[in-house]
Formats: sequence, structure tokens, C-alpha cells
Amino acid sequence: MSYPYQIRSFDEYQVAYRVSVNEPEQFWASVANNFYWRKKWDKVLEWNFKEPNVKWFQGAQLNITENCIDRHLKELGDKPAIIWEPNNPEDRTRIVTYNRLHKRVCQVAQMLKNNGVKKGDRVCIYMGMVPELAYAVLGCARIGAVHSVIFGGFSAQSIADRLEDAQAEYIITCDGAFRGGKDIPLKSVIDDALVGNKKIKRVIVYTRTRTPVSMIKGRDVWWEEEMEHAETQVEKDGAVSFPAEVMDAEDPLFILYTSGSTGKPKGVVHTVAGYMIWTTYTFVNTFQYKPGDIYFCTADIGWITGHSYIVYGPLCAGATSMMFEGIPTWPDAGRFWDIVDKYKVNILYTAPTAIRSLMGFGLEPVKGKDLSSLKVLGTVGEPINEEAWHWYDENIGKKKCPIVDTWWQTETSGIMISNLAGITPAIPSWASLPLPGVQPVLVDENGNHLPEPKEGEIVSGNLCMKAPWPGIIRTTYGDHERCRKNYFATYENLYFTGDGALKDAKGNYRITGRVDDVLNVSGHRIGTAEVENAINMHAGVVESAVVGYPHDIKGQGIYAYIIFNGKHGDDELTRKDILQTVSRIIGPIAKPDKIQFVPGLPKTRSGKIMRRILRKIAEGETSNLGDITTLLDPAVVDQIKNNRV
Ligand code: PRX
Repeated sequence: MSYPYQIRSFDEYQVAYRVSVNEPEQFWASVANNFYWRKKWDKVLEWNFKEPNVKWFQGAQLNITENCIDRHLKELGDKPAIIWEPNNPEDRTRIVTYNRLHKRVCQVAQMLKNNGVKKGDRVCIYMGMVPELAYAVLGCARIGAVHSVIFGGFSAQSIADRLEDAQAEYIITCDGAFRGGKDIPLKSVIDDALVGNKKIKRVIVYTRTRTPVSMIKGRDVWWEEEMEHAETQVEKDGAVSFPAEVMDAEDPLFILYTSGSTGKPKGVVHTVAGYMIWTTYTFVNTFQYKPGDIYFCTADIGWITGHSYIVYGPLCAGATSMMFEGIPTWPDAGRFWDIVDKYKVNILYTAPTAIRSLMGFGLEPVKGKDLSSLKVLGTVGEPINEEAWHWYDENIGKKKCPIVDTWWQTETSGIMISNLAGITPAIPSWASLPLPGVQPVLVDENGNHLPEPKEGEIVSGNLCMKAPWPGIIRTTYGDHERCRKNYFATYENLYFTGDGALKDAKGNYRITGRVDDVLNVSGHRIGTAEVENAINMHAGVVESAVVGYPHDIKGQGIYAYIIFNGKHGDDELTRKDILQTVSRIIGPIAKPDKIQFVPGLPKTRSGKIMRRILRKIAEGETSNLGDITTLLDPAVVDQIKNNRV
């Protein structure tokens, strides 16, 4: 495997960037020529941001799994595609070669076909981090079914909402998942999610934890039995095959739900060709992957990072991608470093929240671990504070590994702004330069483009993109208007990211965080409206308002102000009750860190909650609250201030 499109110097970066802006069609066609197509495109790009309508590589036909697997078999068949480290370090590791991956993916595709799944059908995947999760994702892609992976931490209610929105008919799940000392009963959560659901035709259950499960006759089947049957169908005379479905470039590949500023998560849709090109191109260039490198992304496949940088991007590049079932702090806080040492990991990609939490354990867990194999470090998901950046640089990278701070989103499908490891300069806490194909602009609240900063100056604004890149969101499932309103209507002819950013005279960007009502808790996106809706489900709650506040480890914590009308003899019990409600409605990741019971909320005369004030109080700022005279009841502010938790 070689990557003719790999950028190898700063000059090459500048040239690539220039060409990608001036001649995007030529640029992306030359990248795309390095992939395997059943039929090449008639037109590289057609777009407008009004509808929006973005089409890359129209007329082309392909299957992404032939690019991720089949085309590597001759050269890399016996090389590891996936190395899997189990939750319990004493359990057996699994090394999945490209040949083995090919066989398993063909089997899954056959199994899905046997169970009635067809091209275009939606398959919901709710599994722990086992290799079978990767097989399931790729098996769907092989037959052209649209996968929708739901992170294992979401509740039955969240799953039910997503199943409904995606109109899914099939589910692949596990009996349970191991995460640290816990055993999470996934199948039973699915059972709860399916109460009253009449659409689901089949639930395929993979055995991982041997947690007792109830199987519903006619609906639920065991993965192992189905796979065994499929094996005999895909294997003939020692050769394995399952014909990959021929897909159009703009056929949907997957739906992934993510939070926005309204109460209802959106199903972000990505399509086959553009996604493939974007994730592979950004993977190879950002991390400067070299054939043979062992690459470890610690994310969960339930999030976009896992989709793009554990499964599709690395496998398309013929890389060796590690998959870790467990958590960084179990059995102890040295787990990541043990893994790096054990497999001689070369590239490590993780989240600032993990770094901050591991920092808290001091250097003892790092001691004695051989980290000398590391060449490149990466972060993703949230701004990285300088302290964490330096800790990572000094104690993990030993000051010899470039750190790539990669800014991107579920909607962008791949890395957008980041330094390229060892090629473009790293600046602590700055995501730095846009990748080729990415054309950021900063605007003020009214959509005016900000002037370019002069030498020594820094400008601050809302981050938008003025042209499409191959991996841009195509639609929100079932509701294109929502996609338009959310991303393309705030500022004319621009894609709006929802983030604020700074820019310096050299063209570097520093992401300052969300400017909408979306929180980023431990790198996970959660809408304040979603949490409020969940809290309001509690019978005793009259009204609530949720804001974010700075949190040492999570980046942002969730602060909930609640007007409670029910009986509450004991605040602590009520708090617990509310937390449980949120867990049940969304999942434990959305539980507020702080709950304050308040007699009222600061509202304008028109009834709008003044979140600015609540945010300031949550942040600990109690003196400089700005103008509160327009409030309906200014006295409520003092009451809230005085009872801060
Ligand atoms: O606010 C930005 C933040 O995470 C948001 C995207 O979240 P999600 O779609 O869940 O994707 C996370 C994985 C890509 C962005 O709008 N964000 C992501 N990466 C960074 C970041 N903020 C600052 N620096 C980053 N490197």
C-alpha cells in the first residue's frame, strides 16, 4: 500500500491546499484515482448550500468494503487489520488479519441477507467494543444496508426514539458488554426499547458476557448460529466470497445520531464515496500513517470518531487498527500505557478528557511502561487545555512525538482543522491549519465576514465553511429541511459549525467551543434542551434550565436549575431520583453534575429564560451578571446566587 496523496512537507501542504481550493474537482479526482471503483464518476462535484445539495463523484459506482478489505488481500492478507484488546487484560487478545476480516464480513453480509436485510434497509447496531461490531458495520456496508450504530451507553428510550426516526427493521446487539468492572446488559435494554415496536423484524444477538437474556420466538436469533450457517454459504473450495453490492457514489452509507440545540437528536447521513475519500485522505495525512504502523484510536465505534478512525479510514488505508473493549482506568490508570507497551503502538489518538483524567493519577501508572514505539499523538472531541497538552507531550510523547489537535464534527465525517504530524507546526491548544479541501471563514453574529487578522492580531467569530469537502453531511435522515435550517440557513451560502473560533495572522484556528445550546461533556455532545426534557419527565419537576460550566476533567459539566413542586422531604433523595430519570430517558452520560432547586428562573417579560445569567452563576461569577433590569422578577437572581451548589 502506498499513498501518492500523502503530504510530506510544509511546501507540499501549501501546494495541495492551494490546488484543493482553486481546482477542487481536479484535486479530488486525483486523490480518488487511488481507490477501487466499479465505475468511475461522470462528474466530480455539484453543489449549492441553498437546498443544500452536495454530490461528489456522481455516476461512480463502488462498494466501500472492497476498498477497506478486498483490494488489500493480495498484499496484506496475512497482516493484521484489527488488533483487539479485551476489557480484562488476562483474556485472550484477538488479531484479525485482512483475510480473516474478509471472511467475517462476507459471513455477516450473508447472515444479513439470510435474515431478509436488503440494500437501503436500516440496521441498528447496539454492541460493546468487540470485533464483531466492526464486522457488523462492514457487513451492512457490503450489502448496502444503512447502519445506525447507537453508543452502548444510551438508554432504552433513546434507542426507541432512534429506531423510530430511522424506521429501522433490524437490530444487531450483544447479550451484554464488559466495561471496566461493569457488565452492561445490552440485550435487555434493547428488549425495553422494543416494547410496543412493531417494525423490528429481527434481532441478532452476539454472545459476549453470557448474561442471561430472553429470546423472543420469531424475532430474536443468535449471531453464532446464524454465522455458522452463513459460513458454509460463503465458503467454496477453500475460497471465501460474498459479492459486494454495487453502490452509487451518493447512496447512504450510514446514519449517526447526534445532539443539536433542539430536544431531538438528528440522524446525520453520510454517503459512500465522499465519506470514503475524506476519512482515508485525512487519516493518512493527519497522522502521517506509514504502512506497518500500529495505530490505536481509543474511541468507541458508537461515535463518529470510531466510525471514521477505527473502522473506515484506517482499513481503507490498509492500516492496522487497534480496538479496545475497556476503559482507561481499569484495572488501573496505566491501562493505555500497558497497551502501548504490549503492542508497540506507533500512533495514539485519544480525547482530552481521558488525558485529564489520567493526569489526575500522577506519573506512577506511566512508570516502567515502554512508550518508545510512539511516533504521533492525537486528540479529538473538545478543546485541549495547555496543561493537558504539555502533560501528554512530556510524559507520553517524551517531547519527541508531534501532537495533532484535530477539530471536526459528526457532520464533517472527518478531520477538518488540524496540524499534520511533523509536517505543519503544532501549537498547544490550537487546532491550527485547515486540511486541503477545507475553507473556513469566521463571521460575526450578523454573518459579516471578519477581516483577515493583521500580524500580531487575533480575530474571533463564528466558524463556517464556504465550500463543500467530500465528507460533508448530506442530509438529516427523513427531514432534509431540518438539515438546511440547522446548518445552512444561519448564514447565507455557508455551512455553520456551531463553534466559535479564533484566527491568527498565519491562518491558524483555535476552537473556543460551542456557541449554541449544545454542551460538550467529556467530548460527548449533549443538547441542553434534551437534558431539560428528560428532567421535566420527573413527576415533581415544574420547569428546569440546564447550562454548562467548566469542569476539570470533563471539560464541561452539566448544571441543572430545577423548580420542584413535588414533595421533597430530602433534597438528596430527590436529586438521586432526578438523576435516575435522566439516565432512563437519555443515558448516564447526560446526568447533571450539579442540581440546584430554585424558586423560579430568571425570565424576560416575554418568558424567555436568560441563560446567560444562569451560565454565569454556574461558572461561579456572581457579581458581574450584566443588566438584569429587564427581568420579570429580578429578585429571583439573588435567591439563585445565594444558594449556588
Ligand atoms: O465543539 C466542537 C468539539 O466537538 C464538536 C463535535 O462533536 P461531535 O460531533 O460529537 O464529534 C466529536 C468528534 C469529532 C465540535 O463542534 N470539538 C471536536 N474536536 C475538537 C473540538 N473542539 C475543540 N478542539 C477540537 N479538537
